[in-house]
Amino acid sequence: MFPRLGVNIDHVATLRQARGEEYPSVVDAANVVLNSGADQITIHLREDRRHIQDTDVETIRLVTKKFGRPLNLEMGSAQQIIDVAIATAPDWICLVPENRQELTTEGGLNLNDGNVFDKVQDTFKKLKAGIPQVKISLFLEADANVISKACQIAPDAVEIHTGTYTRLFQNGDNYGHHIDRFHDAVKKLRGHSIACHAGHGITAENIIPLLESKLFEEYNIGHWIICQALYEGMGNVIKRFKEQFNKYPL
Ligand code: PXP
Repeated sequence: MFPRLGVNIDHVATLRQARGEEYPSVVDAANVVLNSGADQITIHLREDRRHIQDTDVETIRLVTKKFGRPLNLEMGSAQQIIDVAIATAPDWICLVPENRQELTTEGGLNLNDGNVFDKVQDTFKKLKAGIPQVKISLFLEADANVISKACQIAPDAVEIHTGTYTRLFQNGDNYGHHIDRFHDAVKKLRGHSIACHAGHGITAENIIPLLESKLFEEYNIGHWIICQALYEGMGNVIKRFKEQFNKYPL
């Protein structure tokens, strides 16, 4: 078994929204991504609709169905977004924190905060009731208390936020303690039969220590792939990632 590659195509929509044109097409992007061997499409329907729009969720869903591969919808807890999720019935949902002012998702859900915990648990229950077959992951920091709280909710997976690790790596700083934290978190989660995914800030370079650690079954990668696609083409970037993944059996 090899790690799975989920490709986040939000930033194809960011380019489109920047000019209010019909292109670049997220449907074409999803087709290229899956034709090139990616295992899943990931999109984030934000409350402010800054990139992915409601109609994109529907059209991308048709592409993932055509390929028989999962759609992973990242979302916050707003009722309107829950309604879209239930209408679209993605295979996976990743619950993330959402602030309107942030540039991107800036960290995991803070389950140490009782209000956040209650909200996430409530959303989790609504989604499981509305989409019986859906699998749900929680986007979390590898913090021991947060991971313990997550086990109480019993999601299908936890996606570990790798943003701080990737920043240290890019700056050439020591990141070893983050890998240790990932090990501890994954050990605890596996003990509760919760799958372990990773995402945020990942590049072809900084993923190597993660692949070597063999901790994560799935990686969701967006910004770097879309940026690198400018030079290499999206299909080539994805094929290169998949070749790299296939060197690190789990
Ligand atoms: N996983 C989650 C839960 C995210 O919120 C994001 C960013 O939207 C990603 C993965 C992808 O991060 P990046 O675009 O930095 O690769």
